Formats: sequence, structure tokens, C-alpha cells
Amino acid sequence: MNQNDQKQAAAEAALDFIESGEILGVGTGSTTNFFIDALATVKGKVDGVVSSSEASSERLRAIGLPVLDLNRTGDLSLYVDGADEATKHLHLIKGGGGALTREKIVASASWRFVCIADQSKLSDHLGSFPLPIEVIPMAQSLVARKIIAMGGQPELRAGFTTDNGNLILDVKNLDLTDPSSMEAKLNLLPGVVDNGLFAVRRADVLLVGTSHGVDQIKT
Ligand code: 5RP
Repeated sequence: MNQNDQKQAAAEAALDFIESGEILGVGTGSTTNFFIDALATVKGKVDGVVSSSEASSERLRAIGLPVLDLNRTGDLSLYVDGADEATKHLHLIKGGGGALTREKIVASASWRFVCIADQSKLSDHLGSFPLPIEVIPMAQSLVARKIIAMGGQPELRAGFTTDNGNLILDVKNLDLTDPSSMEAKLNLLPGVVDNGLFAVRRADVLLVGTSHGVDQIKT
């Protein structure tokens, strides 16, 4: 199976976690797009969705699913989303698509987070994918200086604005051996909206598409 086949297999395996009459949280990215395509085949089972990005909302509406406001739904039973990097401890780096803040909000509102990925996303330790950090525009340089002082190498994502009207710094070289503590530390910097570490609220299940099928890793 090539990488896209692996993404699609993981996405289709996530359908098994849906229960009838649920409102689902749906993430963002190419793996999630396979999930949205698969969702179209069982959409009668789902009462509605909460989306983590404008891009996903558009796709979800196109398959005829009502996109609901999280302020009206309350907690969700299930969130399905991809990742840029994942460990067997179910810690993730997300935000390659720039939707990390809304993704973390929807993940936090969900009882169960099923992460879908191809095999290339698995790693022993987080840090090969640059960590995306969403920042308020006026604080871009301030946050970049603070991150350099922490040992990181930030790079502004050129020509990109998040759905929230903010910027993304992609950061290499931070010490991510304790991802929960780095996640909390970065979020204390004034001007940081959120960062792409999903460790405090990690995934509950990781479905990894591989050359021999879909592996399931659970907490
Ligand atoms: C978007 C994300 C995506 O889940 C992540 O970038 C993975 O994307 P893809 O499924 O295209 O590899 O965090 O903000």
C-alpha cells in the first residue's frame, strides 16, 4: 500500500468507532479528507459534526452533513483527526495544516480522540516534524525571541494566516522529551494562542495504515 492507501485504510477503520445518532468532531488534512469521504457512506448514522477548520467545514457541508457550533453541542463523544507525527504513547505533533488551535479545542471537548495516520507519521520521539505554534500577529517577533532563548529555531510560515487570523511559527530543535511540560510551557508565552503538541490531551486510539493493514494502538 502506498502512503495514500495507508491514509485511506486508517480513515475507513475509524468508521467502526462511530455510534448511531452521534455528533462527531472532525479534524483537518489529507487523512481526514479520506475520513470525510468515508463518512459520506454512513452519514445517516451521524446527527451532525463539529469541524476544526473552514476547509473541513466546506467538505462536510458538500457531503450533506450539518456543521454545528461547539457552543451549542456541548461535549462530543468522538473526535477523528490526523497527525504530523505520533508516538506509541499517543503523543502527537499537529498543525501542519495550520488548524491546530481549533483541533485542540475540539479534541478537548471530546471523550474519545481517534487519530488516523499512515506509517510515515510514527516515530519513537517527537521532534522530526517542526512544531507549529499559532501566534497573535503583533507578538510574532517577541514569541520568536523567547523560543530562540528556549533553544528552538522558529520560522514564520510564509504567506499563511490561520482561520483565526493569526500566524504560524514552525519551530525546530526544541527539547520535546517531556511533551506535556513543553506544551504547557509554550502556552505560557504571551502572544501564543496554542501549539501543536497534543500531549496533555493526547489521542486515545491511534489507527496506523501500514503495508500489511491497519494497526491499532490504544492508551
Ligand atoms: C492540520 C493537522 C493535520 O492533522 C496534520 O497536518 C496531518 O495532515 P495530513 O493528514 O494531511 O498528513 O494537524 O492542522
